[in-house]
Amino acid sequence: MSNTFYITTPIYYVNDKPHIGHAYTTILADVLARYHRNTEKKTFFLTGLDEHGQKVQQAAEERGVEAQQHCDEMAPRFTELWEQLHISHDDFIRTTEERHKKVVRDILQQVMDKGDIYEAEYEGLYSVSEERFITEKEAESGEFRDIKQLKEKNYFFKMSKYQQALIDHIKSNPKFIQPDHRKNEILGFLRQPLNDLCISRPKSRLNWGIELPFDSDYVTYVWFDALINYITAPGFGRDEESFNKWWPASYHLIGKDILTTHAVYWPTMLMSAGIELPKTIFAHGWWLMGESKMSKSLGNVINPMDLIDDYGVDPVRYYLMREMVLGQDSSFTMESFIQRYNSDLANDFGNLLSRVSTLMKKNFGGKIPEPGDFTEAEAVIKSNGELLGEVVKEKIEAMRLNEAIEEIMQYIRSVNKYMENNAPWKLVKDDKDAAGRVLYTAGEALRIGAVLLSPVMPNRTAILLDVLNAKGTNLNWGGLTPGNELQNHEPLFPRMN
Ligand code: MSP
Repeated sequence: MSNTFYITTPIYYVNDKPHIGHAYTTILADVLARYHRNTEKKTFFLTGLDEHGQKVQQAAEERGVEAQQHCDEMAPRFTELWEQLHISHDDFIRTTEERHKKVVRDILQQVMDKGDIYEAEYEGLYSVSEERFITEKEAESGEFRDIKQLKEKNYFFKMSKYQQALIDHIKSNPKFIQPDHRKNEILGFLRQPLNDLCISRPKSRLNWGIELPFDSDYVTYVWFDALINYITAPGFGRDEESFNKWWPASYHLIGKDILTTHAVYWPTMLMSAGIELPKTIFAHGWWLMGESKMSKSLGNVINPMDLIDDYGVDPVRYYLMREMVLGQDSSFTMESFIQRYNSDLANDFGNLLSRVSTLMKKNFGGKIPEPGDFTEAEAVIKSNGELLGEVVKEKIEAMRLNEAIEEIMQYIRSVNKYMENNAPWKLVKDDKDAAGRVLYTAGEALRIGAVLLSPVMPNRTAILLDVLNAKGTNLNWGGLTPGNELQNHEPLFPRMN
């Protein structure tokens, strides 16, 4: 098995105000990156910004500033949010960087030299908001704004030439598009003949883009530019060793709305350029606000900054990862957020820590007691703890993160039950060694739970491990050291009202 893991998020439109949807994909990528780092895989996690195109040009004009200045002023809204959310990306790419523009020009030239780009006059319906020509059917759907009839000379990429090769690739690589219903959606789409892709925009109408290397009157269509970020960052054409180390990407994480661009445009572009295809394109569902779509006009867009300010980063990360079944839509409500927090984090997880640490302080001088001789009950907790790492690994590899988290919480619940059954607070009066054994077992189980939850809640689990005076991400039983002094702490997950 490959020892490298390369994961990407979409690069977000720099104009957008970051919302819970952006935060979600980025946290998901972060959790997977942290998980793989913990298992000592070499990991490269990329995110960034999509900065070219009409909307950026327009917004800059409206503000009366240069487009580049506009991007530079907008970009920190994302970088600051990622910092607040403790996103551990290894690279942050902006499509206006020279390293990226060079790769886009090189790929365009390569595809041109191969004979896969041609010039043609095109007349059709053009959606200004989507920045592309649309079909009659799309125009009738009512989903597109600012439609006009346009006649223009443009450059086209022979996407249709790769249609069959793409179908074959999807069929012989079942993990290429995930989940399966998205794969079937793309295979369905590919049953119709594929159109070629218009990859240029005349400068007379749009100049905020990467100039075509073979015609200075045109800039590159924003998607042909943006998708290439995934190979720019690991070093395509710049650092061969690094590129070969990371590419092909393990995962392109995306939302379901940008599936076609990733699962059709991108692989055919790579085929033409003679570059290997990514291993998996994974499309997640949407966060809905209650039952409705999140939208500016409905005024129900959740700003992740507000949530973090009110509730802290880790609970927000936990909720987003625990609630969404990957691949399906999920509904965000404050009630379910608070309920989830109180039941899982305050009652189950936080409570176990405070019980264990309070009893160790009261009866064992604030030190980790000796594990002593195990009975049947401890053996069960131990063997389930040792198994848990394997179970979580399988779930994560199958992209069932919510189930992985649920397995960990079930284990924590079973440890709470074990504490109740063995009541170390009573046991300590007649048999101190037995009480120590129970507390050691519960503490060690908590340590394992915390290590496994650390990709989801990096801050609070680090505090928990500090309290128990435990280091590292070792999942073998016996990581707590008897005699180690416990550290003081505030309640980890105080109840919310
Ligand atoms: N710039 C393009 C991507 C180029 S990648 C080469 C883009 N940017 S975006 O900022 O509009 O959106 C990025 C991602 O946010 C998409 O994956 C989209 O699915 C996701 N989300 C937007 N709203 C969302 C929700 N309400 N819920 C979950 N994710 C959603 O598209």
